[in-house]
Amino acid sequence: MKKILFALLCLFVFTGSAQEISIIPRPAEMSVNEGEFLFTGRVVVCYPELADKEIKNVTDNFVEEFKRTTGIKLKKSTPKKERLQGLEVTKYSKKADGHIVLHVDDSMNDEEYKLSVAPKRIEIAASKPAGFFYAFQTLKQLMPRNVMAGVPDNEIKEWSVPAVSIMDKPRFDWRGFMLDEGRHFYGKEEIKKIIDVMAAYKMNRFHWHLTEDQGWRIEIKKYPKLTEIGAWRDSKVCAWGEVKPDGQRYGGYYTHKDIKEVVAYAKERFIEIVPEVDIPGHSQAAVASYPEFLSCDPENKHEVWLWQGVSADVINVSNPLAVQFAKDVIDELIELFPFGYIHLGGDECPTQKWERNSDCQALLKEIGSTNYRDLQIHFYKQLKEHIAQKPADKQRKLIFWNEVLHGNTEPLGNDITIMAWIGADNAAKDAAMRGMNTILSPQIPYYINRKQSKLETEPRSQGYGDETVERVYNYKPMNNAGPELQSKYMGVQANFWTEWVEEPEVVQYLMLPRLVAVAEAGWTPQEKRDYEDFLKRLQGEKKYYQLKGVDFGKHVFK
Ligand code: ACM
Repeated sequence: MKKILFALLCLFVFTGSAQEISIIPRPAEMSVNEGEFLFTGRVVVCYPELADKEIKNVTDNFVEEFKRTTGIKLKKSTPKKERLQGLEVTKYSKKADGHIVLHVDDSMNDEEYKLSVAPKRIEIAASKPAGFFYAFQTLKQLMPRNVMAGVPDNEIKEWSVPAVSIMDKPRFDWRGFMLDEGRHFYGKEEIKKIIDVMAAYKMNRFHWHLTEDQGWRIEIKKYPKLTEIGAWRDSKVCAWGEVKPDGQRYGGYYTHKDIKEVVAYAKERFIEIVPEVDIPGHSQAAVASYPEFLSCDPENKHEVWLWQGVSADVINVSNPLAVQFAKDVIDELIELFPFGYIHLGGDECPTQKWERNSDCQALLKEIGSTNYRDLQIHFYKQLKEHIAQKPADKQRKLIFWNEVLHGNTEPLGNDITIMAWIGADNAAKDAAMRGMNTILSPQIPYYINRKQSKLETEPRSQGYGDETVERVYNYKPMNNAGPELQSKYMGVQANFWTEWVEEPEVVQYLMLPRLVAVAEAGWTPQEKRDYEDFLKRLQGEKKYYQLKGVDFGKHVFK
């Protein structure tokens, strides 16, 4: 009887602490133990002896943030290893109240980490800085939300974390979010907030959609008119149907200095930025800036578009100056973004202007095709070859939207990545079968600019409110791919198009908490994902959003 009582008590205690633990994304393996680790000013962080500079930086950042948000200054040391009776032992300070011990374990994957919390000791193991960063993100999620939000809370007098044992690594390499700033421009402080939120949920790619028919948002030194002309239009609203252009002068763009600041900010949070310059379609703002060599009909008037939809005013891919323009833009992107990928768009590119242009007709004949989509591929081929000639540190891989598959992709080879959005599951499979890598960003349900509920309070946006948090959560990535294709699936991405979204608070509202559902799809093994469990863990995030000062969909919070 005593034994049964003890077991019941244990169950109660354990589930009691487990309910307070709400880590998102849910770790691959976690067990909850008895007790807690108490933080005091006599806790020592033990840096690994041979850790590289970046691991030290990650740890220093955590120590600094911890001090700012809790008021507790953790001590730092690098304990020496000594040989004692033939055994290697590490000497830890006996005066400390507890230790946070970091180990470098080269057998682990780059983003993998282990975190074990016991009453006097926290152990963290990882092989790379990203793994340590994610371990600290999880540790922060074991504490009150002000720590993750980066703001002090003077009401809290005692800081502790429950005893847990976690072994964690992501399901996918690519856990992305795309923001369209072509339609509306929000500015770098907003982008930094989004990067913080992404990092809180261990997302690692920010896809920055920087050019559109309605605006060009990145300074290109060689082509100043792109931002003198292309970054501005005569309407804040993107007109559609009864909503007419409002006549306001509206726009903005990022200078090289702004971009470098955002890049550094993202790097510190282990987020790679994927810049997208969407060419040759969705390019009316560029065409309006340099119609003399970018347009198919320079004799006509071209202006930055005031309307929503798909503009037919695409770049004249048969003009050698247009090809040179794209190469020059890519050169500046490579200098500004020290990451692995550049996205060249490729979606929704009408061909009617090419069909009526004699140079385009001649070029199509020259490449031996009758499909105008192949002109687009010929254009990309030249850009890909341009990048291939560069030294190793300037190499970039190219990503395209899945419409590129509608042409003959042979000239492009298969070392490209297809971002699948329309008919995403089939398109991704098609790409994988052609030997290409692919990323799943299905329009339904991962376009998280669409309304997230049927409530009357929902802001103006696309859709009917069917892409709920639950629907987004329950999408199963890679559901139609056999084991032989799965290595081609790099991961998942939520996309946010901003035709209807003028204000950053509305971006936040529609983005949250659905972005979190996508983050968990990217990280957590499918068999560990459960919507009801997610919803429970999500409840604590309300506090995080409030402290962080970001808006969010309230209807799923109690
Ligand atoms: C897209 O939604 N046009 C990629």
